[in-house]
Amino acid sequence: MALNKLLTVLSIVAWASAGPMVVHESRSAPPPGFVRQGVAPDNTMLTLRLALASNDVAGLEDKLMSLATPGSSEFRQWLSMDEVKSFVQPSPETVTAFNAFASANGLAPKVISPNGDWVSITLPVAQANKLFAAQFEVFTPPDKTNPMIRTLSVSLPAELVGHVEVIHPTTQFLGPGSRLQSASSESGRPQVPASCDSSVPSGVITPACLQDLYGIPTAPATQKSNTLLVTAYVEQYAQTADLTAFLKLLRPDIPSTTTFKVISLDNGTDPQDPEDAGVEADLDIEYTVGIATGVPVEFLSVGGGDTDEDFASSLLDTTTFLDGVPNPPSAMTTSYGLNEDEFGSSLAIKICNGYMALGARGISVLTASGDGGVRGNHDDLTVCNVTDFIPVFPASCPFVTAVGSTQGFAPEKAINFTGGGFSNIFPARPFQRAAIAGFLKTIPSHFAGTFNKSGRGYPDVALQGWNFEIVAGGQTGLVGGTSASSPTFAGIISLINDRLTAERKPRLGFLNPFLYSTASNAFTDITIGHNSGFECPASSVAFDAAPGWDPLTGFGSPVFSKLLAAAQE
Ligand SMILES: *[C@@H]1O[C@H](CO)[C@@H](O)[C@H](O)[C@H]1NC(C)=O
Ligand SMILES: *[C@@H]1O[C@H](CO)[C@@H](O)[C@H](O)[C@H]1NC(C)=O
Ligand SMILES: *[C@@H]1O[C@H](CO)[C@@H](O)[C@H](O)[C@H]1NC(C)=O
Ligand SMILES: *[C@@H]1O[C@H](CO)[C@@H](O)[C@H](O)[C@H]1NC(C)=O
Repeated sequence: MALNKLLTVLSIVAWASAGPMVVHESRSAPPPGFVRQGVAPDNTMLTLRLALASNDVAGLEDKLMSLATPGSSEFRQWLSMDEVKSFVQPSPETVTAFNAFASANGLAPKVISPNGDWVSITLPVAQANKLFAAQFEVFTPPDKTNPMIRTLSVSLPAELVGHVEVIHPTTQFLGPGSRLQSASSESGRPQVPASCDSSVPSGVITPACLQDLYGIPTAPATQKSNTLLVTAYVEQYAQTADLTAFLKLLRPDIPSTTTFKVISLDNGTDPQDPEDAGVEADLDIEYTVGIATGVPVEFLSVGGGDTDEDFASSLLDTTTFLDGVPNPPSAMTTSYGLNEDEFGSSLAIKICNGYMALGARGISVLTASGDGGVRGNHDDLTVCNVTDFIPVFPASCPFVTAVGSTQGFAPEKAINFTGGGFSNIFPARPFQRAAIAGFLKTIPSHFAGTFNKSGRGYPDVALQGWNFEIVAGGQTGLVGGTSASSPTFAGIISLINDRLTAERKPRLGFLNPFLYSTASNAFTDITIGHNSGFECPASSVAFDAAPGWDPLTGFGSPVFSKLLAAAQE
């Protein structure tokens, strides 16, 4: 019976695919390290997600710029869930075209996002090959684990062109183990810092150091509606016991019972056992709860696995999940990322548009800028001579605020691993062009690095990111990375939102147009540093920090009082 049914479907498919096909995405070969193992068996079932074109992305971007730009008549009048949906949902023509295609081919699509812009279909390899003029093959990733089914080319029948934007997974090759990692971690260092100066051997960063250095208030927030969301991917679990121990040790002035709320997405969990402690998750929770005093913190545990492929799906699911939350958080922080080129441009653009929609809802989306300097996530010696710089996503999305890392003070310097550069996918938006042009003038004419001068430059801001004291799995230790800086900056933004909410002013929402205009002087300009990577010798080609915005530290490190004053204007 099953065979008959399949044959019936295939005969329809053969007819349906007889029309003209238009190549949607293709690549000449898999990325280095991925090895072809032969064609995928015809009857293997594939689940593909298809992004249906939103009816007015350009209109949403125009609206967002108007909402987020100081001086605009609708400044910070953030949109409701339904207002955003009116831009993001597919048009009736798109829905009709897709449904006609699905029913002609015996597909039963499921709508998987609140705005109706993502659907999933499950079908055999043979049918997928025909419908999308693909050749699905089995590939093994560089570490030889988890064989994956991908195709080097995927096409759309003419009637779907302009209606379907992404077919995933098809031509995307996400390898294992290239996500952001904390740059370093060690246990058993002294619990009381000898110095807050992380550029000296005894220097340790604690919440008290950060409060001191940037003028962050210690008084508790008062507005319970102003929440801060920490995203957690790839099976990183935050431990309540570690947070309690951390607060007892390093925030003795606030109740050590202060905790966070777990939200589950895609069956994500948060098991509580020292063995489950995730250094990244503990760091993120300790430096949001520990800095955003009294702000309700939520921990979004996104399930679905721990491969890079799962991670890409998790980023996507985070944006579509928040699209359906009526009272969303006012800030969120993400300490994970991957090299931009691994996503493929259509998927990266769709996820980035998801962040655009969240910005329009009034969410400040903060992300770590990456821990490999100009060389993406790689920070091992093999890439030190690479002169073609590698941007990291989601930091390279213009609708997130990317946070880089510094070290030391008087002077504060860009640390060698601070991720920074220019996107090859996303052009710089107008609000950023003057800042980028100013930086490009500082680059020597014989500069050996190659990068995309028209791309979105990142990071936007930076702050300390080295020798952060944490408690993980019951042990105190020191960690560093832009994944320490982003939660800290999210904490600062949350405290400013608390003040604004108390004054009945709208929250900050999408930050970048504000940062690149009236807030650009609310930062201490960092003018020293070279982001060649943690492992690479300082002689490796990279960017140098410079006066004004630069792709190591953005505008520099925040001065709380100045940022608050700019926000209240
Ligand atoms: C979540 O768990 C349910 C019940 O086990 C399962 O049916 C569903 O497919 C899971 N969802 C995801 C996204 O893993
Ligand atoms: C990088 O370049 C330096 C200087 O040219 C050379 O000594 C070194 O072997 C190169 N390293 C790699 C990994 O190719
Ligand atoms: C440079 O970035 C632009 C977007 O800003 C993109 O269209 C172009 O393809 C990129 N060039 C390269 C060589 O990646
Ligand atoms: C990069 O900076 C860190 C922190 O200061 C330091 O430990 C490391 O040795 C530096 N790397 C290189 C190659 O100098």
